[in-house]
Amino acid sequence: MLKKVGRVEEATEVSSGIYLLRISCPLKEPYPGQFVMAQPPGLEEIPLSIAGYSGGELKLIVAAVGETTRALCRMDVGDRLWVRGPLGRGFSYMSRKTAVAVAGGVGIAPLIYLVDARKREGLKTKLVAGFKSRVGGKLIQLLEDLGDVVIATEDGSIGAKGDAVSVASSMITRSSMVFACGPEPMLRKVVDLCMSVGAAVECSLERYIKCGVGICGACLIEGEEVSMRVCADGPVFDGETIVKLSDFDKLALDRSGCKVPLHGGCPSR
Ligand SMILES: Cc1cc2nc3c(=O)[nH]c(=O)nc-3n(C[C@H](O)[C@H](O)[C@H](O)COP(=O)(O)OP(=O)(O)OC[C@H]3O[C@@H](n4cnc5c(N)ncnc54)[C@H](O)[C@@H]3O)c2cc1C
Ligand code: FES
Repeated sequence: MLKKVGRVEEATEVSSGIYLLRISCPLKEPYPGQFVMAQPPGLEEIPLSIAGYSGGELKLIVAAVGETTRALCRMDVGDRLWVRGPLGRGFSYMSRKTAVAVAGGVGIAPLIYLVDARKREGLKTKLVAGFKSRVGGKLIQLLEDLGDVVIATEDGSIGAKGDAVSVASSMITRSSMVFACGPEPMLRKVVDLCMSVGAAVECSLERYIKCGVGICGACLIEGEEVSMRVCADGPVFDGETIVKLSDFDKLALDRSGCKVPLHGGCPSR
């Protein structure tokens, strides 16, 4: 897939170190859960979840954690970047089941698009957005504009006290469809919970992504009987697939292709 030129229309810090970017860039209509590869001039191409798309305008929520994300967050209105996508397989976002979306930190990005896309189809979603501690008012406003949202913080500084999965647990039943994105220990907790109550679950996973189209193998996540390419078979996987992947919440390939303990290397959330 060819790279397109995008133009920055807005770059706003919505919470400390977290930015909302609006980029005009005509793309094939993306599904919630898909991602783009974004590349500021002279830097690496990195994967970012699509947080919104409408009328040729792409929304991204970016945490400034390293060289490329910091450069993206520093961009001014009118600056240009390369965009490649939409890539990957998204969520079953049109599910008619009672939907609960569970986000940890900047894992909120694809779920913003999911909740909004469901709303446009007249489908309701409860969103539980978990953060370690207090987040900025602009981010809270952006989430509250989506509708049925519960903010949770681990230290109780705002919203409900606890992690997103504990707070969401009372909302999840056998008839729920749960969509989740966040750090893998959190996703492990959500998958275990959903399996134990018999709820359907889909999680967006992260691995180091190079080609983004399933060719290079950099993003492989392995199990005994099955291996998946996060960029092309995912990044969204259902609970039944995830439990077969023994690398899940344990191991990941790093930048050079070596398998390393997940929490010592990539990914980043
Ligand atoms: C499918 C997917 C969707 C993502 N969506 C978002 C999002 O919506 N918002 C957001 O802020 N972040 C998102 N990320 C994470 C984001 O890609 C990394 O934070 C970013 O690549 C870091 O690049 P850097 O140069 O700023 O930092 P670096 O200092 O290069 O790296 C910081 C961390 O990011 C990891 N990383 C670096 N390059 C890549 C890469 N090419 N692929 C995967 N991980 C990488 C590194 O292993 C390291 O742990 C997503 C990752 C994936 C795989
Ligand atoms: S990044 Fe190349 S196969 Fe996934």
